[in-house]
Amino acid sequence: MVSTFYAKIFFVKQVIIKTLQNLTDSEIDQLNEASEREFKVSLPPKEKMLDRHFFLLEQRKEVLAMGQLLPVEPIKFNSEEFFVLGIGGIIAKQKGKGYGKAIMAAIKDWLVNRNKTGIGFCKLKNKGFYEKCGFLTNIDLLNRFVYLGTEKFYADSENECIFYMDGNDQFMEKVLNNPDQVVLPIPPVW
Ligand SMILES: CC(C)(COP(=O)(O)OP(=O)(O)OC[C@H]1O[C@@H](n2cnc3c(N)ncnc32)[C@H](O)[C@@H]1OP(=O)(O)O)[C@@H](O)C(=O)NCCC(=O)NCCS
Repeated sequence: MVSTFYAKIFFVKQVIIKTLQNLTDSEIDQLNEASEREFKVSLPPKEKMLDRHFFLLEQRKEVLAMGQLLPVEPIKFNSEEFFVLGIGGIIAKQKGKGYGKAIMAAIKDWLVNRNKTGIGFCKLKNKGFYEKCGFLTNIDLLNRFVYLGTEKFYADSENECIFYMDGNDQFMEKVLNNPDQVVLPIPPVW
């Protein structure tokens, strides 16, 4: 009985949410390794990640899956300013085990509890994953999302997709109902 209890604790998987300051060196190393492996880019320098929240699915000290929320603000659109959260860095170390979905469920809770809009950009091949996680997707709007000062950001927009969840500001609903460009303060590769 007692050993079963300890066995369960030993193998428990949980999503923990941390800011950069609270990440251990091992967690940073694991995030960086995963980013290099999956996206062929290292994490940005620490000073550029101070305002991010990191979502980590951990078992003992191993990071099984990860994701991030970062402020993308302000987004100027149709004479309004919006303060949304970018969803990025979603990686499952082992695929097809529900690890990615666990991260997205925690991100969804975070957004819903705060009534915030969350937006991410992904490859078309991952569209179904985000839909399974309860997010809406759109493949027609990409060329309207531009980074401040650029005409068009996505050279290969046919293979990309937007996934999102609207908060109180109904940002994406407004974007869908107005043909203007959406001017982002940072490039949409978060
Ligand atoms: C995309 C990724 C995070 C998915 O994580 P995962 O742990 O393999 O996915 P899960 O096992 O949690 O799958 C959740 C559900 O989505 C489905 N799913 C997973 N990947 C899918 C895909 N590419 N297309 C359609 N459905 C998918 C699963 O079948 C599952 O469905 P179910 O709930 O009906 O059982 C993972 O494949 C990954 O790390 N890819 C490499 C990095 C990457 O491209 N990240 C996305 C950046 S935008």
